[in-house]
Amino acid sequence: MLRAIYPGSFDPVTYGHCDIIQRSCKIVDELIVGVLNNKAKMPLFSVEERVKMLKEVTGSLPNVRIVPFDGLLVDFAFRMDARLIIRGLRAITDFEYELQMSQTNHKLEPKVETMFLTTSIQYSYLSSTTVREIAAFGGDLSQFVPEAVAVELKKKMNTKGECNHEQPH
Ligand code: PNS
Repeated sequence: MLRAIYPGSFDPVTYGHCDIIQRSCKIVDELIVGVLNNKAKMPLFSVEERVKMLKEVTGSLPNVRIVPFDGLLVDFAFRMDARLIIRGLRAITDFEYELQMSQTNHKLEPKVETMFLTTSIQYSYLSSTTVREIAAFGGDLSQFVPEAVAVELKKKMNTKGECNHEQPH
């Protein structure tokens, strides 16, 4: 039984993440999407909100589980009885950070390996950071995130007062 962790912040989940999830869950028996609960990062969405959105967009994939975590990723992998971490690589700019992270994780726990999937070309430019920025300025999100996530982003921007273009003056 091959169980892997696909970890990340997912603030929020994008079509790029969905692509990696859909492809990874065909390779492994069970994929655990690990959602980092790191308050120091000041995410736009709470960990509960990020988990909820991920559950919604992966609902049709029977071998995918969404689990929040804090602390070290390799400890989480061990707790989940997984020895494989999957990460997506978009462009060369991702490489240095990902290499450092995978080598650090391997030093911390040599039994846990990291494998990379290259992001599908149509999502190579996409990141949660740019999605949040587009949402903040009221841009069209339909090419970047599933509809359910776009709805939550709009709600969040309205409640935060960062995006009130549609409100009457
Ligand atoms: O989506 P992100 O923000 O690029 O994901 C980064 C993540 C969650 C994979 C990384 O920050 C992480 O693993 N954090 C847990 C803390 C940890 O284990 N750090 C040591 C490895 S460098």
